[in-house]
Amino acid sequence: MNGSPLILDRAELDDRAEFREAVLTGLSSTPRAIPAKFLYDARGSALFDAICELPEYYLTRTETEILRRHADDIATLAGPGCALVEFGSGSSVKSRLLIEALQDLSAYVPIDISRQHLDATANRLRRDYPRLKVEPACADYMALAHLPDDVSAANHRIGFFPGSTIGNLLPVEATAFLRRARGLLGEEGAMVLGADLKKDPRRLHDAYNDSAGVTAQFTLNLLRRMNRELEANFDLAAFAHEAFYNPVEGRIEIYFRSLKPQTVTVAGRSFAFAEGERVHTEYSYKYDDAGIATLARSAGFTVAQTWTDPARQFAVVYLVAP
Ligand code: TRP
Repeated sequence: MNGSPLILDRAELDDRAEFREAVLTGLSSTPRAIPAKFLYDARGSALFDAICELPEYYLTRTETEILRRHADDIATLAGPGCALVEFGSGSSVKSRLLIEALQDLSAYVPIDISRQHLDATANRLRRDYPRLKVEPACADYMALAHLPDDVSAANHRIGFFPGSTIGNLLPVEATAFLRRARGLLGEEGAMVLGADLKKDPRRLHDAYNDSAGVTAQFTLNLLRRMNRELEANFDLAAFAHEAFYNPVEGRIEIYFRSLKPQTVTVAGRSFAFAEGERVHTEYSYKYDDAGIATLARSAGFTVAQTWTDPARQFAVVYLVAP
């Protein structure tokens, strides 16, 4: 992987300015927090792909297996001729299961914030499915106002939001996102949503504290990114990844924690850290059937179908707008 290029284009300058503002605001707030989306630079995305392969991280494997088993059921519910809209498409591995199962798919619309990821994904899919119309939209799916024109003209649109990414949103944000998605998908629209289920807290804990330390590297990569992009001087050995299940809130909470009293400079500003002081990076909410139903209802959807694995670790649900 390359270091920072010497010359940044306009989009990269904008991204960096946004990152700087978010970090300075986040480190000046009480409690301190940095939005999770900044975890996913090139190295962060590669580390996250590695997390998905870890023995402790059952989510990806389990969801993929559910989709593999039930892709035809999803296709039956969706009916022929729909457009598939994926929110936050990443590398679109799971979407292939739906692309192959849906009948007479009119278009596949991956939405992703990373232009690089999006172009690479679109190119691979066009190569592998020459007859499929791929209409990528480079956008923050939390803020997307409308779909590409010919897609919004298509008669019915199926949304896809896998990976339990819904769990990375606060419940109010999850409702707002789903309500917005419902608007984009229209009256005939439906949503295929993946959500991690509540379970033995130890199992949950291990998924975010793997023995190989990849999740720790993923969290600490944020410090590395601040060092590189914001001229920060975080000592990576003086901070640690921390993740635990909060049973009251029903969520995994993820932080980086200062191992000693220290002062760090970020973009020319000093921030003092007490020993044990934490900076929040992400939540991962865990749902149960009732919680999913409540969430769906709060956004104007109802749950038409739920599929889980035999051990009920993960759920894929099919939401419709009644
Ligand atoms: N959607 C993933 C999840 O909630 C994101 C994730 C997995 C994650 N592992 C992580 C985020 C570790 C931060 C740190 O499970």
